[in-house]
Amino acid sequence: MDIRKTVNLSWDDFDELRDPRPATNDFDAVVERAISRRGFLGGALTFGSAAAVFGSGVLGSATSARAQAAGFNFEPIGIFTDHDIHVPAGFEWKPLVRWGDALFSEAEGAYSPETGVPVEMSDKVFGENTDGMETFTHDGHVLLAINSEYVNPKINLPADSEGMPKNADEVVLLKNMQGVTVLEIADQGNGWEVVVDSPYNRRITHETLMTMDGPAAGSALVQTNADPEGMSPKGTMNNCGSGKTLWGTYLTCEENFNGYFGATGAYDERPDFVRYGIGGEGRYAYEVHDPRYDLSQEPNEPNRHGWVTEIDPTDPDSTPVKHTALGRFKHENAEMVQAADGRIVVYMGDDERGEFMYKFVSNGTWTEGGSTEGLLSDGTLYAAKFNDDMTGEWLALTPESTGMPLEEILVYTRMAASAVGATSMDRPEWIAANPLRAEAYCALTNNSRRGNEGMEVNAANPRETNEYGQIVRWRPENEDHGTIDFTWDLYVMAGNPEVYDNAYGGSENVTPGNMFNSPDGMAFSTDGMLWIQTDGDDSNEGDFAGMGNNQMLVGNPETGEIARFLTAPNGAEVTGLTWSPDLKVAFVGIQHPGGAWPDGEGKPRSAVISVWRQDGAAFG
Ligand code: FEO
Ligand code: CA
Ligand code: CA
Repeated sequence: MDIRKTVNLSWDDFDELRDPRPATNDFDAVVERAISRRGFLGGALTFGSAAAVFGSGVLGSATSARAQAAGFNFEPIGIFTDHDIHVPAGFEWKPLVRWGDALFSEAEGAYSPETGVPVEMSDKVFGENTDGMETFTHDGHVLLAINSEYVNPKINLPADSEGMPKNADEVVLLKNMQGVTVLEIADQGNGWEVVVDSPYNRRITHETLMTMDGPAAGSALVQTNADPEGMSPKGTMNNCGSGKTLWGTYLTCEENFNGYFGATGAYDERPDFVRYGIGGEGRYAYEVHDPRYDLSQEPNEPNRHGWVTEIDPTDPDSTPVKHTALGRFKHENAEMVQAADGRIVVYMGDDERGEFMYKFVSNGTWTEGGSTEGLLSDGTLYAAKFNDDMTGEWLALTPESTGMPLEEILVYTRMAASAVGATSMDRPEWIAANPLRAEAYCALTNNSRRGNEGMEVNAANPRETNEYGQIVRWRPENEDHGTIDFTWDLYVMAGNPEVYDNAYGGSENVTPGNMFNSPDGMAFSTDGMLWIQTDGDDSNEGDFAGMGNNQMLVGNPETGEIARFLTAPNGAEVTGLTWSPDLKVAFVGIQHPGGAWPDGEGKPRSAVISVWRQDGAAFG
């Protein structure tokens, strides 16, 4: 077969190729109208100082130097362009677990700097391209659940493969490098380390047997030849961001599932395939070697992916559950909070140009130690609408509002949200809820297609072809995440104040000293500080000059100030953040490093690192 060009593409570029997106409302137009309103600058907003920071920054002295990051308990660092990690003075870091590291003693030594991991050990080691992760404590054990988002076939496969699997074994190898890892860690005086052979250690891959719940479980839309009941899907794939339930289980979010499916023969090019970017050849030729990925044989198999899947990390024999009630799209992460009346609320983004933000609200309520039955299978799914006047509302996706049967709303959620007029967004990545107040933030990473149909970027249309991204935040009515109405503003518009003196210069809380592009991962520490991770252009040239490598920053929600805390090796994105139970160590994910990091020789190895203060103080 031909070597497919898709192997060299980022997922972002693959989306660009497939272009499944019919845009409806234009969020950037909303933003531009908002920032042009004098009322906005005159204090019409209710968001206090950070909102004012945004307004005056966009229209004002974007290039002025501003005081650097007061209020942070570290000295912010500058940019770097090298192949190493940098953290502030007084902090240290070291790798916790790298791609190919053994989870079980039989796999020790399996990883080779020359050839990677052999297929027979590929489900006994830590996967590649680490992403979302969460910490759990159970019976005195500390567990991490960690996503491995996708693979770099050229790193995993033999050199002569040119990045495409040549047989079923090589497909298995690639599949096993993705999915989820549960592993135990312990600090026995030398910092946190993986507990090899812990009974909690587990790999959950494309092959792990799962179940489904919610209204679309068992429906005709998710039935296949291999599973005519539509209740026993195999595997989870392209696990991007994460979430943690209030009851201590892991939520893994299936993002770019579309690219794994392809057709070896004739198939029905259904409208939902078009909307979700499914069809033609798969990115990695899985369909050539495994009929499950072949649209001409199993046209419903893609409907069994693109869900939020719940895993109990404390029970290695537990069966993961795909929750259809939370909708099917390119799930980034799942941020769970609780409504004032005890109902469960899950905020979610669909990471594609012009797609939507969602929230699920359960019908039942939860109290600590109480039943969790139905909490993620029985409720209402909403899509977000952002109004020009800085208000917004959650639009319920129901048979009445969409004209679609409920199971279709959940399997073809993008189409349901379009039907109700949800606001198209600049690629919603992680959503993080402030633990100190009813407020949530979504990283809108960038959107190359905003207004680019033959229109050039100019100062009068400053956020067309949005290459920097922004972070939107909203506050629900009555300080209750269960309500329908909200007010919103932009916490930050990323930009380059040394290149632009317009909206591309960014909001006032963006300075030459802290600038970045493409916010992606986000998490709050317990002290109410917002940690921001980037997945952007690290060329350090042109529009991105002065931004250096991808990075992790800390934002103060109250003052709007943002300070750079960590920089990644060149080529890598920073994604995934959780803490040790005592909050003294941050675990940070470094995905797709460009050089021979962290070993200094051999292959680039994505890894989770530990970061701690030399004085032993906690983070939050
Ligand atoms: Fe997997 Fe949208 O990042
Ligand atoms: Ca991401
Ligand atoms: Ca990203």
